[in-house]
Amino acid sequence: MNHYSDLKDLKDFQATVDLALELKNDPYAYEDLGKRKTIAMVFFNNSLRTRLSTEKAARNLGMDVMVLNVSNSWNLEFEDGTIMNLDTAEHIKEATQVIAQYADIIAVRAFANLKDKIEDQQEKILNAFIKNAGVPIVNMESALSHPLQGLTDAITIKEQELKKRPKVVLSWAPHPRSLPHAVANSFITAMKMSDVDLVITNPRGYDLDPEITAGTEINNDQIEACKNADIIYVKNWSSFDSYGKVIQQDIDWMMTQEKLGHAKFMHCLPVRRNVVVEDAVIDSDQSVVIEQAGNRTFAAQAVLKLLLKDLN
Ligand code: CP
Repeated sequence: MNHYSDLKDLKDFQATVDLALELKNDPYAYEDLGKRKTIAMVFFNNSLRTRLSTEKAARNLGMDVMVLNVSNSWNLEFEDGTIMNLDTAEHIKEATQVIAQYADIIAVRAFANLKDKIEDQQEKILNAFIKNAGVPIVNMESALSHPLQGLTDAITIKEQELKKRPKVVLSWAPHPRSLPHAVANSFITAMKMSDVDLVITNPRGYDLDPEITAGTEINNDQIEACKNADIIYVKNWSSFDSYGKVIQQDIDWMMTQEKLGHAKFMHCLPVRRNVVVEDAVIDSDQSVVIEQAGNRTFAAQAVLKLLLKDLN
């Protein structure tokens, strides 16, 4: 594997899920694989889980870790041919090549701006690293996808040891802010690569990119969609059609115990309690959000192991 920009970069998705579970069982089995190798984690946006779990994963493999918060660095220019006499002090072309001299693998977090759909679909920042750096790039959430989270979600569902072909529901929930589509996109992609029955439920006007949801049932009736679910994965996203807009915040879409039924509750975190999910759900035994966040380490470790194997 050259890069991990998307779940589709994995040659064998289910084998990678199994590898992550093996690593969870024995985290230091490959503690020398990354000896004298360095990962640089570059953050254009905030993070708690991705930052710490990716660092932990790299250290479990014996790697050195460097972190760059771009907000503490120089303002970067992304356009070609710009006369840089305004606010930008360094071009992404130099920045990526310089970072690559200090690191064997670069991991990048650069969210959607949610203002311009075409610009977000170009994945400018992630692709600038892939084009210029010359070392493997790991996507720690880009404009369109969050493949470390999607892999984690598949691992967490596999661990639940549910019936064959469980019913998995991805439910939209209200949120006061405009949030990206990346987590939902990668969850759908991961579920399409898994042996599950996936149903998406969201209000009208909140359908995700049809290229990603193609072939998956979309039900605008949340109560009906959640019936007999084994897993309910809750997430807010802003409108895709009215790009980046919050077009409704109907609290009736919050996940409640009644809608959850006997299902397990999943969410990528961070989550706004009593907006996205009521306390009774997230505090219940049916909530697996803490285990899910814990599995971020082993998803990242599996990906880094695959990249290191091809580096060595
Ligand atoms: N789920 C997730 O990516 O969490 P962070 O934004 O805290 O990294």
